[in-house]
Amino acid sequence: CVPPRLAGRRVLVSAGPTFEDIDPVRFIGNRSSGKMGFAVAVAARAMGAEVTLVAGPVTLPTPAGVRRIDVRRAAQMRDAILSELPGHDVYLGAAAVADYAPAETLPQKIKKSGETLRIDLVRTADILAEVAAHPKRPRLVVGFAAETQDMEGYARDKLLRKGLDLIAANDVARAGQGFESDDNALSVFWRDGRHDIAHGPKPRVARDLLALVADHLEAKA
Ligand code: C5P
Repeated sequence: CVPPRLAGRRVLVSAGPTFEDIDPVRFIGNRSSGKMGFAVAVAARAMGAEVTLVAGPVTLPTPAGVRRIDVRRAAQMRDAILSELPGHDVYLGAAAVADYAPAETLPQKIKKSGETLRIDLVRTADILAEVAAHPKRPRLVVGFAAETQDMEGYARDKLLRKGLDLIAANDVARAGQGFESDDNALSVFWRDGRHDIAHGPKPRVARDLLALVADHLEAKA
């Protein structure tokens, strides 16, 4: 009997979109369903890991045996992840974090007036890059990249720029995968390697990804 490959490991996963409030009834969001990140949490748990899942606003049920923390905005996701970070062996950033958020959230609903409306947006913190540069950095930091062109080039650029160990890229322009879909395909890159995970249901793609994560953890030990 072989022990599960992630037994004794602690895995922190972010999933879902973030919603950045403009006023009490409007927000800026994105099309992430959270399915891939939740599948990653399930796969890590099935491989014996202790799993913490920081979830943006999604309608998915909490996977069995997984500790879940719900957040809404990028700033809240960052705070939750940075406070959970110590003690985790792996971080997988599957969330589609907003890159820009309204400079202020108005306390009252914006009323229709002029023909145009301007909303100032400010850059959010890059959670993944902060995790990778953190003094309590998990041994393995894994990013995701949703690309519509030159997937390998952009993914490898992110790998180096954000200081990641692995980056899992998917081509969101291809039909039947990525955002909102039940299926996905990933190309995983690291400094001197690449592994393609074939198109299929997100739970199987997540298991293949976690097997690769276990390989890299064992190689780093
Ligand atoms: O640079 P880009 O947003 O394409 O990188 C995607 C990766 O970075 C994902 O793993 C995502 O979770 C992470 N990210 C983040 N914080 C941001 C933006 C992206 O953690 N503000």
